[in-house]
Formats: sequence, structure tokens, C-alpha cells
Amino acid sequence: MYDNWEELENSIVNCKKCKLCNNRKNIVFGTGKKDADLMFIGEGPGADEDIQGIPFVGKAGKLMNMAFDGIGIDREQVYIANIVKCRPPGNRNPEDDEAVACLDYLRNQVMLVKPKIIVLLGSVALKNILGKEYGITQSRGKWIEKKGILYMPTWHPAALLRDDNKKIEFWQDLKQVKQKMQL
Ligand code: URA
Ligand code: SF4
Repeated sequence: MYDNWEELENSIVNCKKCKLCNNRKNIVFGTGKKDADLMFIGEGPGADEDIQGIPFVGKAGKLMNMAFDGIGIDREQVYIANIVKCRPPGNRNPEDDEAVACLDYLRNQVMLVKPKIIVLLGSVALKNILGKEYGITQSRGKWIEKKGILYMPTWHPAALLRDDNKKIEFWQDLKQVKQKMQL
């Protein structure tokens, strides 16, 4: 674990700890406010993120930005990262060995950001952060406290593209987050 951003960022530059290094264009480290109270964790980069090196800039990211705008969450004021930092081929889910290899970086990011609240975007984020016993359908919308951090699991933004009902629930979940931030 590094106690500063510079060393952490330098440590990842040529990472080859898992097989996702073979096809990536860019490592998508994370973006936003480095001491944010609110953090978002997604799954892994898609094609657009891989090209730009920035999380949530593609279709799903645009939908998430729209929700942020509607609810009054400033993207500049939050920190956004993913379970794996290199794009899984064909947008498949990260495999367990890949997530395990990459999670130390994310843990280190969480340690440095020190967020009060973490929004877990979808099943991959939920299971890798809180444990395989959690399911997104049962857990979404419900606060879970662990080691002084409040977690809000919700749908992955890509799931909203296919399902209007999930869109509504995603908004409800982010509204809860917004309310909690204002307490
Ligand atoms: N989906 C994710 O999980 N993360 C991104 O950065 C983009 C799409
Ligand atoms: Fe390294 Fe993570 Fe990329 Fe795997 S996904 S090569 S562990 S940065």
C-alpha cells in the first residue's frame, strides 16, 4: 500500500499482473476528486474508456452523467474507479483471478480517498467489494455499513440502457445517496 497518489499511480503504469494487460490500449486508473466524500465503483473499462483512459465516458457513462445532473451530483466532486483497470475483451465480466490481481490498487485508492459513501455499480462491484454472498437484486437500494464506510449497491448504468424500471430504481438509489450526503 502506498500512502500517496504519485507512488500508487507510478506503480500501475506498466502493470502486467493479470492477462487483461494483453489487449488494453490504456489503463483506466480512476478519475475525480482525490479526497471525495463520495466514490463510485464500476466493473471495468469498455471500448470508449479503453481508448480515452477515463472511466464511464461511453454510453453507460453518459447515462450516469444525466442522472448526476438531474439529482445534483457534481461529477467533479466525486471519485470514480473500477474493479479492473484494463478492458476485458468483448466487454465480458472480469474473471476472478483478474479482479483479485487488480483489487489491491482499488483498495489503495479507497484508503487514499477516504470516502464516507461508496456506490457499488452492479453485481461485479458488489460481489468483489462486499462478498460473493451478496446479490444485486436483493441488495440494491439498501445501505450496508462496513468498517466505517456506507455502501449503496445499485444497478450498473449499462443495465439501465435495456430496462426503464431499473432506470427509475437507479435514480431512487442515487437520490438516497444525495440525501445522505446532505445530512
Ligand atoms: N462500465 C464500467 O463498469 N466502467 C466503466 O468505466 C465504463 C463502463
Ligand atoms: Fe494490472 Fe489491473 Fe490491468 Fe490486470 S486489470 S493488468 S491487475 S491494472
